[in-house]
Amino acid sequence: MPGVFDRTRKKALVRDISSNFNKALSTFFGEREPIVDIAKMQHKGYVDALQSCGVEVEILEELSGHPDCCFVEDTAIIFDDVAVICRPGHPSRVNEVHTISERLREDFEIKFLSPDAKMDGGDVVFTGNEFLIGRSTRTNDNGINELSEIASKYGYSTQVIDVPNSTLHLTTVCSVPRNGMLIVAEGHLKPEQISGFQDVIWIPNNETYASNTIALENGKILVSAGFPITKQKIEDAGFEPILVEMSEIMQADGSLTCCSLFIE
Ligand code: GLY
Repeated sequence: MPGVFDRTRKKALVRDISSNFNKALSTFFGEREPIVDIAKMQHKGYVDALQSCGVEVEILEELSGHPDCCFVEDTAIIFDDVAVICRPGHPSRVNEVHTISERLREDFEIKFLSPDAKMDGGDVVFTGNEFLIGRSTRTNDNGINELSEIASKYGYSTQVIDVPNSTLHLTTVCSVPRNGMLIVAEGHLKPEQISGFQDVIWIPNNETYASNTIALENGKILVSAGFPITKQKIEDAGFEPILVEMSEIMQADGSLTCCSLFIE
């Protein structure tokens, strides 16, 4: 039966910040090398915020050889009883998936993409009944086609969205506060790219980073701290923003969703 995977986000898999996080990839938000100790503190705050909202959090050990290892969202796409293991689009991140697939094997049927596929989980947004898949510098057509084929076997449709050069991933500029509703950053996606959605909260371009949110139960939603217009818009739409300090993780182009894989 399609859609049986519980989307209420009860359990998150996260990975500690790498001791070499200062070497993490950064092109879009980063203005300098991130400071590892501050990033670790903020990551702990992130875990605390999830737990305060009732989410169980399992923390994997950091990988010193993978500065971007905390961004576990990019390593797998999970739905129903399936975990599709990604093929990260940047060479330095390719081997991050191995320990993740070993862990996910305990709970999910594992599926792999072919060697011709490139896919970062950060290019995949689940809207409630379909997957939006970003075509980006990290995700190619083979990745899109292979994920679409797997998803369709489980009853899910997919829609491809071209991710502009102004952003890393689709999730960097787009998130889902509740099924069928989007939060989108102005100046990155165009209205015609998401014309199928009636309910869209547009975030001003100077607050782009805050368009990435994590919706939890009871209207609670994790939002990055320091973006007052976004916070107000999200409140006005009836949600309860839980603010998380992400400024140091942002230096490595990482957003809220990047730091979790929801496994329940
Ligand atoms: N720093 C996250 C990424 O570039 O994948």
